[in-house]
Amino acid sequence: MYKIIVLLSGNGSNLQKIIEHIDSGEIKAEISAVISNRPDAYGLQRATKANIPTVVLEHTHFSDRESFDESLAQIIDSYEPDLIVLAGFMRILSDTFVEQFEGKLINIHPSLLPKYKGLHTHKRALENSETEHGASVHFVIPELDAGSVILQGVVPVKPSDTEETLAERVHQIEHIIYPKAIKWLAEGKAINIPLAGL
Ligand code: GRF
Repeated sequence: MYKIIVLLSGNGSNLQKIIEHIDSGEIKAEISAVISNRPDAYGLQRATKANIPTVVLEHTHFSDRESFDESLAQIIDSYEPDLIVLAGFMRILSDTFVEQFEGKLINIHPSLLPKYKGLHTHKRALENSETEHGASVHFVIPELDAGSVILQGVVPVKPSDTEETLAERVHQIEHIIYPKAIKWLAEGKAINIPLAGL
C-alpha cells in the first residue's frame, strides 16, 4: 500500500479532503500518521476521528531548527512513507531535511507559482489587480516555493473581492487539486524530475 504522512499545524481542511478521497477509494493509499508541531491543531482531531495515528512534535521544545527537523525526520522515517504531504505546516524546513526527502515531499501553496512565493499571497494578488489567482501543488526543494509544480488550480478574482473572500475561493480549489495530485502520485502518473543539473 502507498503510504502517506501528512504534516500540519492548523485546521486541516486539506487533510479532510484527502481522507475523504482515500475513504471513497479515489486515492489508493493510506495515511500512516498525521504529525503536527502544534498540540492544538484541529487537524489532529480530524485524524483521530478517521482512526489515523497522530504525533505531536512541539517545535518549542527544541533549541534550534536543526534538532527539531532531525527528530521530525526520524519519526517520518519510522513509517517508511512513499509521500510526505505538507498541508498547512507552518514551519520552514531546513535544507538538510528537504534534501533527505526530496522527490517525496510536496506542498500546496496559495498562489499560481511562480507568482507570489512566500506569505500574504491573496493581499498581493489584490494589490496587483490580478484577474486570476489560485493554488499550486509542488515538490519541495530547499529554495522556498520553487520546486516543480505538479498541478495548479485557477480561480477568478472578482472586483468585489476582499482578502477573505479570495482566500476562501482559493481554499475551495485547493480541496480539488490536492487530492487529485496525490492520486496521480500514488498511481505513479506524476513523478519528480529534479531541476538541478538541467
Ligand atoms: C492552505 O491555505 C494552504 O495553501 C497553505 O496552508 C493552508 C492550509 O489550510 N499551505 P488547511 O489547514 O488545510 O485548512
